[in-house]
This record gives sequence, C-alpha cells and structure tokens, in this order.
Amino acid sequence: MLTDTKTKAPGLADLPPVQSDALLALIAMCDADPREHKIDVGVGVFRDGAGNTPILQVMKQAEQRLVDTQKTKAYLGTGGDKRFAELLRPILLGPHAGDERIAGLQTPGGCGALRLGFELIATVNPRARVLVGTPTWPNHPPIIKATRLEVSEYPYYERGQGIIRFDEMIAALQNGEPGDVALLHGCCHNPTGADLGEEQWDEVIQVVAERGLIPFIDIAYQGFGRGLEEDAYGVRLALDSCDEVIIAQSCDKNFSVYRDRVGSLFVKTGSKSATATAMAHVGQRAREMWSMPPDHGAAAVHIILEDRELADRWIVELAAMRDRINDVRQRIASADPRLAYIGRQFGMFSMLPLSKEQVVQLREHEAIYMADSGRFNVVGMGDDQLDRFIASVAGALGN
Ligand SMILES: Cc1ncc(COP(=O)(O)O)c(C=O)c1O
Repeated sequence: MLTDTKTKAPGLADLPPVQSDALLALIAMCDADPREHKIDVGVGVFRDGAGNTPILQVMKQAEQRLVDTQKTKAYLGTGGDKRFAELLRPILLGPHAGDERIAGLQTPGGCGALRLGFELIATVNPRARVLVGTPTWPNHPPIIKATRLEVSEYPYYERGQGIIRFDEMIAALQNGEPGDVALLHGCCHNPTGADLGEEQWDEVIQVVAERGLIPFIDIAYQGFGRGLEEDAYGVRLALDSCDEVIIAQSCDKNFSVYRDRVGSLFVKTGSKSATATAMAHVGQRAREMWSMPPDHGAAAVHIILEDRELADRWIVELAAMRDRINDVRQRIASADPRLAYIGRQFGMFSMLPLSKEQVVQLREHEAIYMADSGRFNVVGMGDDQLDRFIASVAGALGN
C-alpha cells in the first residue's frame, strides 16, 4: 500500500489568523486606554446617568428568590424553561398570544434565537436567500452565513441625510423570490436608530406577504423605543398578515441581564401540526449546538413575569431606561441642528456622519471611542460626559 509520507495533515498551528470582531476590538482598545476622561460609546450596553450598567432592582429581588426557592438544577430539556416562553407571549405577541400556530422556546440570548431560526430555514430550504438591510448589526451576516444561507443586501439607511432609503428597500423586497427571508429589525434599529414608522411597516409587510417572503423579525430592544406595545407593532403586523413568521427575541437588554444570555425564538406556520413539526426540528438543531440554554437568567425573568407586583416594577424600571435614552437623544438633538435627526430616532444607537479618519481622530485626540462607521451608543456615557461629547462631535463635523 502506498502512503504519502510527505504531505502532513494540517495541525492546529496551521490555522490562519482571524479577522477580529471590530466592536470587541474597540472595547479592548478602550479598556486599555489609561486616559481617565475617556468616553466609551462603542459598547452596546445601557448606562445610567452615573455611567454604570446596574442590575435592575427587580432582578436582584428575583435572583434572591430564585436562590432561596430553587430546589434542583436538573436538566430542563432543549427548549429550556417552558413557562418562561409562555410568559413572554402576551408581551411579544399581544393579541396573537393565544394563537396555537405560534410556538416558542428559550434560547441562549437573541444570538441563539437568530442562529436557530436561520438553521430552521436552512433545514427546510437551503436555497433561500436572506434579504438583509444595509447597514445592519454586524453580527447578522456571520450568523446567517454560518447556516450556509446566502445573504442578499437591500438598501436601508442613508447616513449623510439620516433617513431610511424606503423606496429602494421596497424595490429590493419586491425582487425577492417566494421562500426568501426578509430580516427586519423589530424596533430600535441597530446601528442606525432609524425605525420604520407604522405606515412604512404596513407597506413593507404588504410587499413581504404579496411576494411570499418569510418575515424574520429580530427584536432585541422591546421597550427601549416608544414602549413595550408600540415597539411590537411590526411583529404583530407580520403575524396578522403572514402564515409563516420567525421572531428572534432577546431579554438581555430590557431586563439588563446581558451576560446571562436570555432570549427566545418564536415560529409561526399555517397550522398547529406544521408548527409542532417545525419546533421538533428546532429542538433537534438546538440539541446539536448547545443542547440546552442556560437557566439562571430566564428563571429570574420567569419569576418577575409570573408575579404581578414584580412585573409592574419591571415595567417602571424599563420605562426609566427608555426615558433616559430618549432624554439624552433630545439633549444631543437640541445642541446642534446637524444632530437634530438623532431626536427622531429610537433605541441606543445612532450613526454620526463622520468619516473613518474623523472617528480615529476623536479616539486619538479626545479619547472618544465609537465604531468606525460612526455608530455610537447614546447612553454609553454618563451625564457628566455629554457636553464634552457633543462639543467634540460638533468640532469634528466642522463649521
Ligand atoms: C439587533 C440585535 N439583535 C440581536 C442581538 C443579540 O442580543 P443577545 O445579547 O441577546 O444575544 C443584538 C445585540 O446587540 C442586537 O443588537
């Protein structure tokens, strides 16, 4: 028998370098900066007026109750905490909460829900294209490509003018083929803050339904924009109009439990039995990837939503986060007419019309850290840093 002794099998030392995630690299760069007055508006977490990301009081109480009352940590199954997913239904699905053609399960954060939802599409139709707006959250394309589905971009936002490229978006969706997937941000668009208005949603979902596209709605910031109900407008409209809908949801921001990885995936098909089959596939894919989602964060959210008093307190704490986001937006918008559009946008992120060179200069000269695209977190800084931030951005924009 002939064996080739010259060619050696690749070893781990042969791995090529990885292009590091730009946002994670930015966080590391900021952490390493010794300048005390540095401003970190690159990171994607809510910060209060003092510049902290506190644990919600209601969450602290729920966690304490969990520690005191939990009797076992035995396995729960691929779908995690079933009651957690049930309790989310009225919040997310509203009038559709009782629809038996919709089923949901717990996932490791919104990322886990996205991956699982695209795995489901890839299982049923590996040739489906996923229509993705540009710009979008930078982790969307890698998650989709990991399932081997093709990404097809549609124009979404014009950064110079701060407006949605709505006609181009509609034209691109009209070119979608039946079975293609339209990825849409439920609210608080990341990275632009430019949300579809209700009439725009109406038109988008009408085209999606007419073309036979599957709406895939990523809703990671429900309650951070206009309110819990208002922010679910697109989700509910898609459920009104389409037989097949996928929703990737995250509790990581609105319960402020980022590292605990709390999310869910909801799937709607045309019948209860088809949904049951789809969920069996979803469970199988989950089993292959992470087997079961982590319990702690979802168990604490479960405790909050199950208890009327705690749930009401969560709504109050959530409203306080939303009010701060919208208040900072108004303060930035009123400081400079060139930033007025920021007051009409929603959620934690907006984009500044800065070149990459200007972003680098702000970093080097002012210790202000934001993504190269000009995306910044409006609540990434404490109140004491806001005036300097606005003055520095105005300076970078020139006269
Ligand atoms: C648009 C969007 N979708 C999903 C996620 C994922 O959230 P999670 O941390 O729950 O995985 C994020 C997080 O930044 C996001 O911005």
